[in-house]
Amino acid sequence: MKNEFVNDGKKIFNLLGNEKWKYLLSVIICAIVVPAFDLALPWVTKWMINAVEMGSKELLIQGFLTMIIIFILYSILVPITGYHYEGRSHKPLLGVRLRLLKHIIGMPFNFFSKQHSGELMSRLTGDIDELFDFYKEQTYDIISILFKGIGALAMLFILDIRIAAPVIILGIISAVSRSYGVKALKENSDDVRKLSGEANSLVSDSLGGIKVVKAFKFEEFLNRDFTSIMDRVTRKAYDRNIIEIKRNALSYIIGSLNFLGVLCIGAYMISKGTLDVGSVFAAIMLQEGIIEMFVAFGTYGFGIKIQIAKSARIFELFQEKQERQGKYEGSGSHICGDELIAIEEGSFSYNDREAVFTRLNIRIMRNELVILEGQSGTGKSTLSKILTGLMPLESGNILWCGKNANMSILRNNVAYVPQEPYLFKGSILDNLRIGNPKATMDEIYKATKKACAHDFIVSQPQGYNTVIGERGLTLSGGQRQRIAIARALLKEASILLIDEGTSAIDSEIENILLDNLISEVDKRTVIFVAHGPTIAKRANRVIEI
Ligand SMILES: Nc1ncnc2c1ncn2[C@@H]1O[C@H](COP(=O)(O)OP(=O)(O)OP(=O)(O)O)[C@@H](O)[C@H]1O
Ligand SMILES: [Mg+2]
Repeated sequence: MKNEFVNDGKKIFNLLGNEKWKYLLSVIICAIVVPAFDLALPWVTKWMINAVEMGSKELLIQGFLTMIIIFILYSILVPITGYHYEGRSHKPLLGVRLRLLKHIIGMPFNFFSKQHSGELMSRLTGDIDELFDFYKEQTYDIISILFKGIGALAMLFILDIRIAAPVIILGIISAVSRSYGVKALKENSDDVRKLSGEANSLVSDSLGGIKVVKAFKFEEFLNRDFTSIMDRVTRKAYDRNIIEIKRNALSYIIGSLNFLGVLCIGAYMISKGTLDVGSVFAAIMLQEGIIEMFVAFGTYGFGIKIQIAKSARIFELFQEKQERQGKYEGSGSHICGDELIAIEEGSFSYNDREAVFTRLNIRIMRNELVILEGQSGTGKSTLSKILTGLMPLESGNILWCGKNANMSILRNNVAYVPQEPYLFKGSILDNLRIGNPKATMDEIYKATKKACAHDFIVSQPQGYNTVIGERGLTLSGGQRQRIAIARALLKEASILLIDEGTSAIDSEIENILLDNLISEVDKRTVIFVAHGPTIAKRANRVIEI
């Protein structure tokens, strides 16, 4: 259990990557400046009180000057170290977010159909923000409290061991009392985190499908679900408050007893003449730091446990296996015979469901026009994604130029138009350039003309620079499909694979577009996933699936 705790602590620290040691150094420097002054003050106070008691004007002036120097140093060093720490902590924390995003993008395609984007967003934002809070606030507090507590303890021993002993005992009692309610708080925080993930998923789903929500007057049900989650969060927050109130009350009582205890012992020792007034004052001032340290064992032990629980969701993501691209033994796209791509005895099923296809054998040649045909749900889009290298076969082989293909070689060589094309929220030009970032404007016009997109693009308010909103929502379905086709054409890949890419286009434009795409066969292989007979008649081959 303890080992697990240490290991998890290390994992959190390691999340900071290469910058972690620099970060640790700067947090240590920053965190010891304030307590160093807190430790110096009781010392000078004792010095001045004793000076008054002895009637030594000289000692009093010296003490006073020392106090002023301490204050000046304090006001210079605290902002400087604070500024340095802010700057140092920013970079590694940003690094964690970037690495997590990179890791998520590197997950296999299948992962995204299992995971809700709202849930992922909540990890990338909420959980990481809390992790930042831990690095920036809690680590600072822990180091500063430890430094002050150990320093105060050492000074107390130097002052008088008889007054140090009761302070330690009282500190231990405080620490034990502080562990009250820890388990309940941890469970509470786990539950709240799960609920906020659910709420995020619900909101992002509703916003994504806002058209359906409004058209079907689905708002009421969503409100009901959202309210139910929020009710549960409120109840959890209420439970948490109750535990916190009890913890704080206990902590207040124990804190007051501590203060009274040291005061009584100090007064008794002064009355017996075994301790001077200055030392008792100093002991009372130092006591706070020591008690704080003991209490922190209870609180931060708990704080770190909560943090580990929160970070667990981030670790879980980091532990998810990355996509395995595998190695391609062949020598690239163009040095091969007539057969471009082939599947041998290929089988595939989604997450242990019934197989979509088994022992499938297909061969697709260079400069061929192939139609993938089949009823709805037979696996055409699934096969398209496999041919594009988005998902691996479950068993069997997929070959590129006769050699076992990896995902990367397929992605490089297949230009894919998905059944539901996705456009990003930039301009039309930005979206087209995804196909080929280096394309010249002439090449872009050529592609958009072939895709029957040029005319409607130039009629947009800012032509090619028109911003098309999230998922291209300011365009019609058919316009989005044509931009997606132009984007694929720009890629100039050996295979153009269009998964029902013309379903939303009227038949007049569709016919021109199909003619244009079929003429691409001179340069590349064209694979259409299609239902209708229009195109099947012109195909070299129809593959039934
Ligand atoms: N991400 C997924 N997870 C689980 N099952 C899936 C997933 N995507 C598709 N399926 C299932 O796999 C089967 C094949 O789906 P696919 O989308 O490949 O069919 P399709 O032939 O393209 O159909 P359509 O002509 O309607 O587009 C279907 O039964 C579908 O329910
Ligand atoms: Mg499909």
